[in-house]
Amino acid sequence: MLNAATLKSLLVCSTVVLSACAMSSKTTSTTTSPTTPTNPTIEAILADLTLEEKVGQLHLINFEGEPTEEQLEQIRQGKIGSILKSNGAAQNLKLQQVAVEQSRAGIPILFQEDVIHGYKTIAPVPLAEAASWDIPAIQQSAAVAAREASAGGIQLTYAPMVDMSRDPRWGRIIEAAGEDPYLASLVAAARVKGFQESGEPGQNILATVKHFAGYGASLAGRDYNIQDLSERELREVHLPPFKAAVDADVAAVMVAYTAHDGVPLTANRYMVQDVLQGELGFNGLIMTDWATIFNLVRAGTAENLEDATTAAIQNSIHMDMASNQYSELLPKLVREGRVDEQLIDDAVRQVLMLKYKAGLLQDPYGRFDEALEKAELLSDANIAATKEMALKSMVLLKNEQQTLPITNEVKKIAVIGPFAKAQKDLIGWWPGLGEAKDVVSILSGIEAEFGDSVEITYAQGVTIDRFNKAGAELIPEAVKAAEQADMVIMVLGEQEWMSGEGGGLASLHLPGLQEELLRQVAKTDKPIATVIVSGRPYVLTDVAQHSDALLQAWMPGTTGGTAVAEILSGKFNPQAKLPVTFPQHQGQVPIFYSYKKTSHPFVEGITEDRYSTTYRDVPHEPLYPFGFGLSYTNYSYSDVTLNSTTMDLQGSIIASVEVTNTGDVAGREIVQLYLHDKVASVTQPVKLLKDFTILDLAPGESKTAKFTITKDKLAFIGIDYQPTIEAGEFVVFIGANSADVKSAEFSLTN
Ligand code: BGC
Repeated sequence: MLNAATLKSLLVCSTVVLSACAMSSKTTSTTTSPTTPTNPTIEAILADLTLEEKVGQLHLINFEGEPTEEQLEQIRQGKIGSILKSNGAAQNLKLQQVAVEQSRAGIPILFQEDVIHGYKTIAPVPLAEAASWDIPAIQQSAAVAAREASAGGIQLTYAPMVDMSRDPRWGRIIEAAGEDPYLASLVAAARVKGFQESGEPGQNILATVKHFAGYGASLAGRDYNIQDLSERELREVHLPPFKAAVDADVAAVMVAYTAHDGVPLTANRYMVQDVLQGELGFNGLIMTDWATIFNLVRAGTAENLEDATTAAIQNSIHMDMASNQYSELLPKLVREGRVDEQLIDDAVRQVLMLKYKAGLLQDPYGRFDEALEKAELLSDANIAATKEMALKSMVLLKNEQQTLPITNEVKKIAVIGPFAKAQKDLIGWWPGLGEAKDVVSILSGIEAEFGDSVEITYAQGVTIDRFNKAGAELIPEAVKAAEQADMVIMVLGEQEWMSGEGGGLASLHLPGLQEELLRQVAKTDKPIATVIVSGRPYVLTDVAQHSDALLQAWMPGTTGGTAVAEILSGKFNPQAKLPVTFPQHQGQVPIFYSYKKTSHPFVEGITEDRYSTTYRDVPHEPLYPFGFGLSYTNYSYSDVTLNSTTMDLQGSIIASVEVTNTGDVAGREIVQLYLHDKVASVTQPVKLLKDFTILDLAPGESKTAKFTITKDKLAFIGIDYQPTIEAGEFVVFIGANSADVKSAEFSLTN
């Protein structure tokens, strides 16, 4: 019996020494696969387990609500190693006591949850956070989520999601960091570090990077659809953020629902063993996504569940989420000689290593403290941090005639739109334990910000009844409210369920009659500032046309309404820049800035030249390009200067521009560096983000943004799929966004 006391007595190494044990034994183990870390404590626990108990460790099951007697009995029998969706210090402590004190082996449970952008205090959705380009703030935001989740009895999150998507029809574009691999990689590493290492001991949780890999390329924006990536696109676009997460020491990887090159990831040896474990060097735990073992049969690549289960365990999939197939079939498959027990041992080592890293093997109860939980969830500090993040993530897309910020001359504001009072929609599709009642709506944020000095009226305008065109009868009242006001704030968008998993859309126009509502309100000729609540880029072409100002507020989290109001009032000067291209027409999708050079390049606008890649009916330019975002001030950029026009492989070039705040308020500008390799053996993007810097500028102030270009920034994936650098001419672009840049050229010599 390996109860809590016995378990503790096995802890021959202190916390510090144990990590050393783990590392040193990596090279000495002869019985395990080369990627499986081991240590003496784990080996001792493993040696004591029956086959059924080992398999129990690989079993990840969901508990929703109070556990049933049957579930408790499974824990007592050592059949459940990890639980997802069971929350709360009190509940998880109770379950932990059953596991530690009433099961024969006494191994603690690892509690897991989708802590995607917050646990109880909800931050902006991940796509929004990426719009801040503020990597330390993003890390901090994950740290807040980790602090709350760990206080709520959780030790592992299924985040960060790093799937690259260039198709806003795909609902899960909300969960990652946009279209660019460089920015997405920085965000991926920051989120891993934020979850795993930014808090005090005991306040961190383990991270799981997902969904390996290519899920964001689901065809036509339909979730779970086939993906058909070239080896090149896989390596240029989809793998970099996974590599960044692995390099940041992410604890776990979740494989995607989809198939790569026809083989579902759960059974895809090339992707999991060669690429993930081999090339990326990941040596931690790999888990399925929800019941993906079943999917091998559903997708028709396994004849039956026994074959599917065998394929998964033979592919280094260590943990089975929610299919129950490991627990039901593995003991039998081992006894029949179809599965080697060493594979099970390796997988158990991975699970125990996570439990060790989470501190559970050292102290199974240390993390479950209701008083701490009460103090941590929705604490003032957490609320303040998420508000800061929300402010930094909202992108000002249009601001004519200085409609914003709202001046003292405005005495009466009409707030109109079906999302003005929204609460649930502000925390998105995956809000952890976040509750609508804790969310500041945009209307109440505005009321609080403008106080008694301004009269605020409200009209719903239309109703959101799924995608139906509902609520036309409410439009006249909204128009009347607009007529009687000095200015209008329209709050339009999408409901939380429309984005996220399974949130594929064919139309990228705002749902229902919202565009019609705006057209009618615009006829009043009152100044209109429109705020968009969404988890994806919508086609905002008509919306922009009928608005004087446009603010992309995303799904901004618990304090979203306050943050919107502070931007409208000018208390906060917007600084965010789009991490994803906003199309001007949905037929342009997939659209992104870093397209490759072709034989028939794009030409501007609508062309009579039919022999170009441009459409005949719609220009190729987006409505708003990647990297775009306005401020309440203006910036001017000098020409780009290079300290040399040649460099060799050992050297570097410094590219600089002087940026001046030409307006009369202080601002923060995100200055972006893009490169283009003019001639290479493989077609190159017309521009590729390679660096950026954030400048704080007082009115009238100038600062120099300097970028050092070294050879790593000049590398591309060569013909042999290896990083390659070729001598020749390069163009350096520096600017305020991917379209508005100045350039200079240099050559790389051998
Ligand atoms: C999603 C994962 C998620 C899991 C557990 C799946 O359907 O694809 O991203 O972590 O469910 O909730």
